[in-house]
Amino acid sequence: MTVEQPLLGGTANRGRVVRVGDTVRRPLRPASAATHALLRHLEAVGFDGAPRLLGVDDRGREVLSYVEGEAVVPPYPPWAMTDAALVSVAHLLRDYHDATSGFRADRHEWSSTVPAPFRGDGVTTHNDPNLDNIVFRDGRAVALIDFDLASPGSRAWDVACAGRLWAPLRAAVDVTDARRGAGVERFRRFVDAYGLTGKERASVVEAVPETHDWCYAVVAGGAQAGNEGFADYWWHGGADRAARTRAWYAGNLAALRESLA
Ligand SMILES: Nc1ncnc2c1ncn2[C@@H]1O[C@H](COP(=O)(O)OP(=O)(O)OP(=O)(O)O)[C@@H](O)[C@H]1O
Ligand SMILES: [Mg+2]
Repeated sequence: MTVEQPLLGGTANRGRVVRVGDTVRRPLRPASAATHALLRHLEAVGFDGAPRLLGVDDRGREVLSYVEGEAVVPPYPPWAMTDAALVSVAHLLRDYHDATSGFRADRHEWSSTVPAPFRGDGVTTHNDPNLDNIVFRDGRAVALIDFDLASPGSRAWDVACAGRLWAPLRAAVDVTDARRGAGVERFRRFVDAYGLTGKERASVVEAVPETHDWCYAVVAGGAQAGNEGFADYWWHGGADRAARTRAWYAGNLAALRESLA
């Protein structure tokens, strides 16, 4: 009998992502054709920081390669809160964007659209580089997983999204690990490690609240549409935390801008 081992950590597909041997099975979605084209492109250009697409199984689920390692899920291990881990995420994101540069994302239908000022530099953004969507080995980020929200975007957009989650940029009350109080400094470190250029460094600060609102619109929309994982998250603390983060931006984006100037 085939053993299906539940993989925990995600919200959108909670309870529906399983490991079978060396593979992962996930539900198909309306934008799967687009994300599959992206995964095939990444394989074709030899980018090894993403799972390989292996097909669709007899139950209509996508089959991906299982990436050996550890995604960062609560309670967060201390090694994942270090600057070394943060810098490795920035390097992985940079390599991923470089690998997408020859991919014609405009030829596909994606699940959502990044606001116009933050797309158009030719990269396909991941859009959900949360802690549980990055696999580590030996304390170093080695692969992005879960490309469900990918779309045409820009480097500044994805750096803002990853940076605000990994720094993190939010009220101190919402940071219960060693990263507390270090958000602005760690965000700058992330931007430096990625290697954003002068103009992109200004754009990345503007993108921070935009990516926040964009991601939470996905979560709130999913909650309203009846997705159980999103509803649990949103109605049991997520909505309040998002409001606190928004208020934190109002008081701290000037300092962030200054630290990147
Ligand atoms: N290809 C893979 N290789 C290794 N582990 C994986 C892989 N895909 C998923 N996982 C593990 O399963 C967990 C949940 O998977 P996934 O991110 O696909 O779920 P999700 O519900 O779609 O997440 P989200 O809420 O971020 O949309 C991940 O956090 C990771 O630990
Ligand atoms: Mg996920």
